[in-house]
Amino acid sequence: MTRPHGHLQDTTVCSVERETDVPHVVAASRQFCLAHGLSPLLAAHVATAASELANNLWMHTTRGGTITLRLLTQPTRRGVELLSGDEGPGIVDLALAQQEGYSTGGGLGCGLPGVQRLMDDFEIRSTPGLGTWVRACKWAKLGT
Ligand SMILES: Nc1ncnc2c1ncn2[C@@H]1O[C@H](COP(=O)(O)OP(=O)(O)O)[C@@H](O)[C@H]1O
Ligand SMILES: [Mg+2]
Repeated sequence: MTRPHGHLQDTTVCSVERETDVPHVVAASRQFCLAHGLSPLLAAHVATAASELANNLWMHTTRGGTITLRLLTQPTRRGVELLSGDEGPGIVDLALAQQEGYSTGGGLGCGLPGVQRLMDDFEIRSTPGLGTWVRACKWAKLGT
């Protein structure tokens, strides 16, 4: 799509296939927030959450997936949405996967609970054999 010169993209898609894609997602997330005038603190939280979701993509799937950043604009508030999507093995027990310290291997088991704490809204869906979908939003405080 052609956009007028200087127009900020309100959606950015990052693909994650390997570990070395994670720092790119972290930088892109932080940059996306700052470019849209959101605070450095909010940008840091979103970038950290994006880092955990990106790590899960290369660690727990074979083909990776995507992290999509989207600007949320509502009449009274602004925010950022992180959407992680993959067509990996999926998660059989979602409640267990969200427990602090639970890991099927490769990590400390703090990723999903950490994303939940760092972000305001958190939603996860998964179908074993089909994939996993995580949506997490962070809202800017009014007037910031
Ligand atoms: N995208 C994903 N696809 C399949 N399984 C996942 C995915 N993300 C998380 N999981 C499962 O949820 C568990 C908990 O995730 P997390 O809290 O990030 O801990 P860790 O990554 O350190 O294991 C993982 O160990 C894994 O079993
Ligand atoms: Mg993890």
